Amino acid sequence: MLKLSYQVVRRLSVSVHRCHSLETKTHTWPRKIFSGVQPTGCLHIGNYLGAVKRWVDLQNAGEDVTYCIVDLHSITLPQEPEILRHNCLQMAATLLACGIDPMKATLFVQSAVPQHAELSWILGCMTTMARLTHLPQYKEKSAKLKEIPLGLYIYPVLQAADIMLYKATHVPVGEDQVQHLQLAQSLARAFNNRFGTTFPFCEAKVSDDTSSRLKSLRDPAKKMSKSDPDPKSCIMLTDEPKVIQEKIKKSVTDFTSEVTFDPEKRPGVANLITIHSLTSGKTPAEIFVEAKGLNTGQYKQQVTEALVEHLNPIRIQIGRYMDDPNYLTAIIENGCEKARSTAERTITEVKEKVGMNAFSVIRQQAIRRKELAK
Ligand code: TYM
Repeated sequence: MLKLSYQVVRRLSVSVHRCHSLETKTHTWPRKIFSGVQPTGCLHIGNYLGAVKRWVDLQNAGEDVTYCIVDLHSITLPQEPEILRHNCLQMAATLLACGIDPMKATLFVQSAVPQHAELSWILGCMTTMARLTHLPQYKEKSAKLKEIPLGLYIYPVLQAADIMLYKATHVPVGEDQVQHLQLAQSLARAFNNRFGTTFPFCEAKVSDDTSSRLKSLRDPAKKMSKSDPDPKSCIMLTDEPKVIQEKIKKSVTDFTSEVTFDPEKRPGVANLITIHSLTSGKTPAEIFVEAKGLNTGQYKQQVTEALVEHLNPIRIQIGRYMDDPNYLTAIIENGCEKARSTAERTITEVKEKVGMNAFSVIRQQAIRRKELAK
């Protein structure tokens, strides 16, 4: 008897899969934006101009947006518990100060939505070690370590789970995340092929200007990075005007004094023009006209002024939000609740397709069979 029902269920599920794989080609997914940031306390202008500023634009354009503070990702490298908690709070304050509006966006913290870890495990069982070893961020970060935590290795699978839980179709990120998103696409494809259409193939939204990979101010061959030990390599959103001036003054350019935009041959100056353009709203063409006759040293003063004018209100606003942790907590708790309800729907669907939640599925199938037999 049990054998028979098992075969019936198998046949049923196989036919469902066939039907779904036909659907894959025609299925249109509602446009959904998802992205995440690690709670490193504050953002540098690479994170801001390469990602978060665009998150705000998408939100204000009326898109369906979900943004996540990814604390589970942070612990792939050791963290002090108190500092991690403080950094999460500060990241929430920073995102709000940058313009994320909790009335328009779902803003939440990853570890408060346990379905991320659950889906990550299921997807991990569908990923090969060879696929993960070749990802550049893993190679870069693990090269500096003697003992490599397993979490660092499987981090991109968790990232795929983040995106897939919300069935996101578009993911605004900087260039360094593109290969992680390719893994998310191939996992969605693999899951759909095996279990039927469940996930869209997300698309990376990387800006086509040089903001998708802002360079270190100290070494324009490298990207601006939070893990750079030289604090002068990046500008933080909380930097005071004096600090910004000092960092821009010390930024590495080259021996040509004219201001020209040539990211290949003159990456240091091109980086400054990108920063200037994105913070002032001026086009590079307008910037050239204004910078005519200036040497790079004098031009740095203009970049400083644009940056200070743009970042000052954000820095002040971060301080105000940090003075009101109750407000921040209420915003994040509300965001977590919204995120959990979407995540729960997806994980239930995934578990059923994979063959989990056995007893509740079997009970439901029995009820359905009884109803059909009536
Ligand atoms: P994270 O926290 O390192 O960076 C957050 C965002 O900032 C972008 N970024 C840059 N953009 C331009 N120039 C730079 N120098 C620069 N440095 C960083 C990153 O590309 C990113 O968009 N793994 C992710 C977080 C994550 C995520 C996700 C992102 C977890 N799950 C799901 C998207 C979707 C990370 O560590 O980002």
